[in-house]
Amino acid sequence: MADKHTVRFEPVGIEIEVDESQTVLRAAAEQGIMLMHGCKEGQCAACKSFLLEGEDVEHDSYSTFALPDSEKDEGFTLLCRAHVYEDVTIELLNYDEEMIRSGLPIQNTIGTVVSNESVTHDIRHLVLAVPPDADFRFFPGQYVDISIPGSGDSRSFSMANISAKESGQLEFIIKCYPDGVFSGYLANELSVGDELPISGPFGVFTLRDSQSDLVFVGGGAGMAPILSVLRSLAERDPNRKATYYYGARGKRDLCFEDELRALKQELPNFTYVPALSEPADGDDWDGEVGLITDVVRKHEQDLRRADAYVCGPPPMVEAAIELLGELGAPSNRIFYDKFTSTGEPDTTPVTGRASTT
Ligand SMILES: Cc1cc2nc3c(=O)[nH]c(=O)nc-3n(C[C@H](O)[C@H](O)[C@H](O)COP(=O)(O)OP(=O)(O)OC[C@H]3O[C@@H](n4cnc5c(N)ncnc54)[C@H](O)[C@@H]3O)c2cc1C
Ligand code: FES
Repeated sequence: MADKHTVRFEPVGIEIEVDESQTVLRAAAEQGIMLMHGCKEGQCAACKSFLLEGEDVEHDSYSTFALPDSEKDEGFTLLCRAHVYEDVTIELLNYDEEMIRSGLPIQNTIGTVVSNESVTHDIRHLVLAVPPDADFRFFPGQYVDISIPGSGDSRSFSMANISAKESGQLEFIIKCYPDGVFSGYLANELSVGDELPISGPFGVFTLRDSQSDLVFVGGGAGMAPILSVLRSLAERDPNRKATYYYGARGKRDLCFEDELRALKQELPNFTYVPALSEPADGDDWDGEVGLITDVVRKHEQDLRRADAYVCGPPPMVEAAIELLGELGAPSNRIFYDKFTSTGEPDTTPVTGRASTT
């Protein structure tokens, strides 16, 4: 094991020990400190922070869209890529006081494939069993990293269920991209009984304690953590007013429709608003049509007292955050997970905001 150093985070005053072989983000997660992050690959800038004291910091490879050289020279750092070689003090630019100390222990375990079914033409419902003695715990809305055996590659996927305690299972909703590494493996190779290394849980896309109305905006496989949070709402706070705007291209892209429509029985103040952006000629559809952001704008006028949760592909998340802000949602009450891709650098810099992943 390499040498360890103390990293102090300001303005929260939290100190952790970081092994030189670990990134600061990983060491924090292992010590239950939930720092803001997204891709964990140096591409999205969600973990960008500022070095207040100390300078002996090295970064694994990262995108200069996430950390331009000029910012690095000023002292900015990406916690998901940073290794420290002396004691340092880091100013967190984005953090969530409610979540920062609430981390569950990170576990490395094995998931055995229970099922791997198509739920649309390009979305799969993957169910993995975790070993009964693993006591694998997560908060609804969190995600794990799943490794592709033998490849050295891993991808992040959000759980769609709310706990592994009774079922011993983790459920995922995964979109398959034509040239995707994990997509190809999932669609063509992964069979029932196969084993996948899992690491987690990570992420702060979790339901905050509040009485505010809830607005969820999702697209594509961004369904997974929102379904998890909605399923948990049914147990935790069933009378809370909640609206879920879900964007898909055509009717063939919709999934978990029956469950979402039936949720109304458990959540009397829940409304599900699916919208099709490009309905096909034969689609029998009398629901909303248009981009999901246009549909949200049509239904919502004043979100000053709302908590908003947004999840899906980065462009959709960025457009939704902008719109929610225009409709009055406070920036520190907009929580989001961007499903950034690892295969190809995301060239869009992310601006920091108070309560995000
Ligand atoms: C915190 C987090 C949680 C996530 N949770 C989920 C989840 O629950 N379900 C899920 O399906 N995905 C989720 N993702 C995305 C997931 O980790 C992978 O990036 C995605 O599945 C693609 O992996 P791949 O190996 O198939 O494709 P890669 O080999 O990584 O990419 C190959 C090509 O696929 C295409 N591609 C990949 N991702 C996208 C995209 N988002 N939009 C457009 N084109 C793309 C691009 O052409 C890319 O060049 C999450 C990502 C993050 C960061
Ligand atoms: S989480 Fe560090 S750059 Fe994306």
